[in-house]
Amino acid sequence: MAHVLILGGRSDIGLAFAHICAHNGHEVCLAARRPERLADDVRDIATRYQVHAETREFDAEDSGGHADWFNQLDQTPDIVLYAAGYLGDVEQATKDNAELERIMQVNARGAMTILEAAVRAMEHRGSGTIIGISSVAGERGRKSNYHYGAAKAALTTFLSGLRNRLSGTGIHVITVKPGFVATRMLQGMQTPAALTATPERCAADMYRAVQRGRDVVYSTWHWRYVMAVIRNIPERLFKKMSI
Ligand SMILES: NC(=O)c1ccc[n+]([C@@H]2O[C@H](COP(=O)([O-])OP(=O)(O)OC[C@H]3O[C@@H](n4cnc5c(N)ncnc54)[C@H](OP(=O)(O)O)[C@@H]3O)[C@@H](O)[C@H]2O)c1
Repeated sequence: MAHVLILGGRSDIGLAFAHICAHNGHEVCLAARRPERLADDVRDIATRYQVHAETREFDAEDSGGHADWFNQLDQTPDIVLYAAGYLGDVEQATKDNAELERIMQVNARGAMTILEAAVRAMEHRGSGTIIGISSVAGERGRKSNYHYGAAKAALTTFLSGLRNRLSGTGIHVITVKPGFVATRMLQGMQTPAALTATPERCAADMYRAVQRGRDVVYSTWHWRYVMAVIRNIPERLFKKMSI
């Protein structure tokens, strides 16, 4: 049995991951900025799978407090998933620094500060798994979400460097790159059905990645090939496209 900490525990993908972990007998802690909203979910998980489940308050924007936040945990988790994310409003971010900073903080800086704290604790123990949910949006800037994409690119690079630093230490770092996932984040948006996963499918891809010791996972796998095409479109064409 493993102890799984999910940061951004109220996210649709994070919650789906909690269910898979609990179903496999693992304890889960859902850390969210409004943990009281998870009371029913935690009760449901504990009853349904007969495992310990709990919530904690966690704010991805409080980077200054992340080291202390992690140190006050009762135990060092075996698996830490960073699932918090903020798409933001691209129009607003072009003129409002607070919106731009929030996008960078929740998607990148907050992930780095809390995951560095997690890694310090795991290094002390000599084992653990870190999972960061980045995005295919971090692979190429598009006008519809380029601040979010820039933050996810920073997270992808951070996770890659962390994996490189921790290679051979017993700590495994997984980068997850979802394409479209039908969650609250995409509410009201039209996305192609064939390329849109459920949160449960994305969570299953992540759980399989843990079991198989994978480094970088696209969810669904089709996105690896979609992004190979998109990355290779010449910039002089790409800048005129609306995708
Ligand atoms: N859906 C997609 O198509 C897609 C694609 C690529 C990557 N992703 C990534 O997948 C991850 C999970 O997102 P999702 O799709 O499951 O969407 P979601 O349900 O909207 O989850 C986003 C979560 O981030 C949390 N969050 C935002 N600001 C926070 C803060 N300051 N502190 C703590 N938590 C904060 C939200 O908390 P509240 O519940 O309190 O609002 C929410 O639970 C995110 O990293 C997202 O960027 C999603």
